[in-house]
Amino acid sequence: MRAAVRTSYGPPDVVRIGQVDKPTPRDNQVLVKVHATTVNRTDCGFRAGRPFFVRALTGLPRPKVTVLGSEFAGEIEAVGHSVTSFAVGDRVFGFKGLPFGAHAEYLVIPEDGFLASMPARLSFEEAAPGTEGSHYALSFIRKAKVQRGQDVLVNGATGAIGSAAVQLLKHLGANVTAVCGPEHLELVKALGADRVIDYTAQDFTRDTQRYDVVLDAVGKSSFLRSRRLLKPHGVYLSSEFGPLSQNLIVALVTPLLRGKKATMNLGRDDPRMAGYLRDVLESGAFRPLVDRRYPLEEIVEAYRYVETGQKLGNVVISVEPSTS
Ligand SMILES: NC(=O)c1ccc[n+]([C@@H]2O[C@H](COP(=O)([O-])OP(=O)(O)OC[C@H]3O[C@@H](n4cnc5c(N)ncnc54)[C@H](OP(=O)(O)O)[C@@H]3O)[C@@H](O)[C@H]2O)c1
Repeated sequence: MRAAVRTSYGPPDVVRIGQVDKPTPRDNQVLVKVHATTVNRTDCGFRAGRPFFVRALTGLPRPKVTVLGSEFAGEIEAVGHSVTSFAVGDRVFGFKGLPFGAHAEYLVIPEDGFLASMPARLSFEEAAPGTEGSHYALSFIRKAKVQRGQDVLVNGATGAIGSAAVQLLKHLGANVTAVCGPEHLELVKALGADRVIDYTAQDFTRDTQRYDVVLDAVGKSSFLRSRRLLKPHGVYLSSEFGPLSQNLIVALVTPLLRGKKATMNLGRDDPRMAGYLRDVLESGAFRPLVDRRYPLEEIVEAYRYVETGQKLGNVVISVEPSTS
């Protein structure tokens, strides 16, 4: 089968389209014919082998994980003997953590993995970006124990995590202030934000409002700078470790103290989230923001674009049948 393969760590052009063996489902697995996937920041990190510690997970000195790709939407082509929840022909979407493998024509995943049936009215390209940014966003929201009526600030509201966070927070009934660039203020309001801050016009850490939760979904701030935004028992979360890993350090120390605290969440791909995400996609409460689409053959270009740090939401890869 065709797949985007890399055999070393490095820049986007270490990836090339090649042929690899089609996987065979074990008893508890389903074989999914992938129609659409994404290139996201997780793929970029594991492709580059940065931060360095990710190589401990994917292989030293060369990657043993050669086909990346975590999110997918497609059709079940075969099921293992003991599979009861899915059948051949089902349209499904999901998230495949290590050892990844969604940048390919086929993947296998356990039936109790991060997998759900696709809402009927969504296309594969609409459903594929439904799990990566959103499961990080949902992990952050659950970690911070956000409640209805709470005030939450989301920095980086146009990223995959931030755009999902705004929508999922509104679905929960939170009051959301979102920080984004000047061209996207209306877009972010349309996602549900109650209030928007243009980061080119105002430093959000100088805002006069106080928040129960500050979520920096693009990791551009620090707890020390954002602390003043928090209410007395407010919580700060960031998607990055921050300069000198300070967000990690304060996340270890501040929970031991009373008052404002920082916490970290590296994202948990809890399979039970799949059903929740399916429901919010079905109801329309969550619509993954899609920026560009590329065919699998142009995945290197997709990587280059994602690495600009300027994508709006998600970059989708269409895995069309081979013409050769
Ligand atoms: N913790 C984890 O396990 C984990 C997993 C995945 C990703 N991440 C990290 O999470 C972050 C977000 O990833 P993502 O895929 O959601 O999005 P992303 O690609 O990093 O974010 C792109 C968006 O961020 C906006 N942006 C850039 N600089 C900004 C700033 N200073 N203030 C506000 N918005 C800004 C850009 O808008 P403009 O073009 O308008 O600036 C763009 O729309 C990344 O840093 C990534 O490395 C962490």
